[in-house]
Amino acid sequence: MKIAVVFYSMSGNTEYIASAVANETGADLIKIEPVVPYPDKGFKMFFHGGRGAIFGETPKLKEYEFDAQKYDLIVFGTPIWAGNATPPVHTFMEDNKNALKGKKTAVFTCSSGGSAEKAVRKMAGYLGIEKFDAVLLTKDPKLKNLPEDREKTKEFCKSLIMLTDN
Ligand SMILES: Cc1cc2nc3c(=O)[nH]c(=O)nc-3n(C[C@H](O)[C@H](O)[C@H](O)COP(=O)(O)O)c2cc1C
Repeated sequence: MKIAVVFYSMSGNTEYIASAVANETGADLIKIEPVVPYPDKGFKMFFHGGRGAIFGETPKLKEYEFDAQKYDLIVFGTPIWAGNATPPVHTFMEDNKNALKGKKTAVFTCSSGGSAEKAVRKMAGYLGIEKFDAVLLTKDPKLKNLPEDREKTKEFCKSLIMLTDN
């Protein structure tokens, strides 16, 4: 059965893991973007992105192709903004909540070092599930390219393949 990786990435780290997962598992990549982009530099970037994430903003997304029926495992990828998932991923989860019911789900996060556990719990809440079937937490994986993140990503991909095997 097919895997979908649904992700948002501002500066490439999340996209880097999304591509690695697609390469290892044959997953389809679904890159989501808000209609109005978040500023990607300086104070404005932290202010707008941070505020949107803290207040649980759900910005309108550019059109994307996603047919939940094609997949039995959906993997979500998000940067961590102010300790939370990014607003575009929040929007996707809200918009597709019903279609995602009963599906296997996994999540990976990219932060610059801060904790992502709370964000993962909140994302499970957006979907109305207890917890994700697999979780990977990384630290600026493209920028830092840490050996432990490479190892954890491989293990994560193995668990995704196992999830689709049974
Ligand atoms: C608006 C904003 C808020 C952020 N807040 C946090 C944070 O609370 N904790 C953290 O560890 N990193 C934080 N970061 C850093 C990113 O989560 C991290 O660099 C991530 O790897 C970026 O992913 P991307 O390259 O896919 O956009 C923040 C970055 C931005 C732009």
